[in-house]
Amino acid sequence: MAKLRVGIIGCGRISPFHGMPAGAQESVTVRACCDLRQDRAEERAKLFGCRRTYTDYREMIRAEKLDVVHICLPHYLHPPVAIEAMQMGCHVLTEKPMAIRLEDAQAMIDCADATGRRLGVIFQNRYNAGSVLIKSALDSGRLGRVLAAKATLTWYRPPEYYAGSDWKGTWDREGGGVIIDQAIHTLDLLRWFVGDEIATIDTHIANREHPTIEVEDVADGVIGFRNGVRAAFWANNYYSHDAQVELDIACEHGSVRMLAEEGRVIFDDGREFIARPNPAESFDYGGGPSYWGASHVKQIDQFYEAIAAGESPEIDGREAFKTQQMVCAMYESGKTGRRVTF
Ligand SMILES: NC(=O)c1ccc[n+]([C@@H]2O[C@H](COP(=O)([O-])OP(=O)(O)OC[C@H]3O[C@@H](n4cnc5c(N)ncnc54)[C@H](O)[C@@H]3O)[C@@H](O)[C@H]2O)c1
Repeated sequence: MAKLRVGIIGCGRISPFHGMPAGAQESVTVRACCDLRQDRAEERAKLFGCRRTYTDYREMIRAEKLDVVHICLPHYLHPPVAIEAMQMGCHVLTEKPMAIRLEDAQAMIDCADATGRRLGVIFQNRYNAGSVLIKSALDSGRLGRVLAAKATLTWYRPPEYYAGSDWKGTWDREGGGVIIDQAIHTLDLLRWFVGDEIATIDTHIANREHPTIEVEDVADGVIGFRNGVRAAFWANNYYSHDAQVELDIACEHGSVRMLAEEGRVIFDDGREFIARPNPAESFDYGGGPSYWGASHVKQIDQFYEAIAAGESPEIDGREAFKTQQMVCAMYESGKTGRRVTF
């Protein structure tokens, strides 16, 4: 069978987490890289072993007759580029968040439906061994009903992190701060673990320690689920370092606990199950900070399996939309000071 022809759009920091796993697929050939900055495209092309570079993604899709593109662009570009790529015949795997505005996320889903192309959105931490253990324990029903949940993320983003970027720290291009960029992974896990529809969102946002940026560097709030569960969260970008993310869920017959990538399931009768990252599964992305985790390769494997089977990937537009809705409601609540009811 002919190999899928793949292109990488955006050759910044996250791009090796796409180009390397895509290149490791038997069914794929990474044909080309695209970035407005030719030097970045060339550097990644060398890493991924592809010969062609472009500064215009439309030209790349057309000239290389691409079947799939990976979108590794600033947030505000995810919807327009995904939609154009699907209209030009490509399946799309985009980085999180799928969009900044809910209507743009919906337009992406509509476009996937209209064109019959597959749309996947990266939330790689769902594929961590710890997340898989926790999700399966909760879904099995053995822990009984979920009673309450909480999550904490205290990381550090120095002024240079924002100063070195032309889109981070802005409402129009990043779409927010610690919620939409860093905590979105943990909030996605929280929502996915509890597994029920959201009924209300109440969030407070502020910028306390980053005077040079527009967006929030701290957020706290509560997610109210239809089943009555309340999930409390607190996230900031002004701790001393990237502390381990903590997530706890109290259940009728025990609890689950996530500390960074480690997942723990604790039953009231004393039984305890733990899952940690398996070093044997480590993948060489060619660098990148450890807080990005190691699971891009697992989600990318699943994306290509789904394409080969003619199915939607596990985290498709509709699934990612639920987290997008939650994040957008957090900003609405944070900006208006009012509880948002779904
Ligand atoms: N899943 C994760 O853990 C994780 C980690 C880091 C970043 N990300 C996400 O990855 C995405 C990219 O983040 P990053 O840190 O790599 O950003 P970055 O700023 O390092 O890279 C973005 C690149 O896009 C290029 N670009 C901008 N406009 C373009 C256009 N019109 N055509 C072609 N290239 C263009 C820029 O020149 C830049 O090289 C974001 O959505 C971010 O949230 C995800």
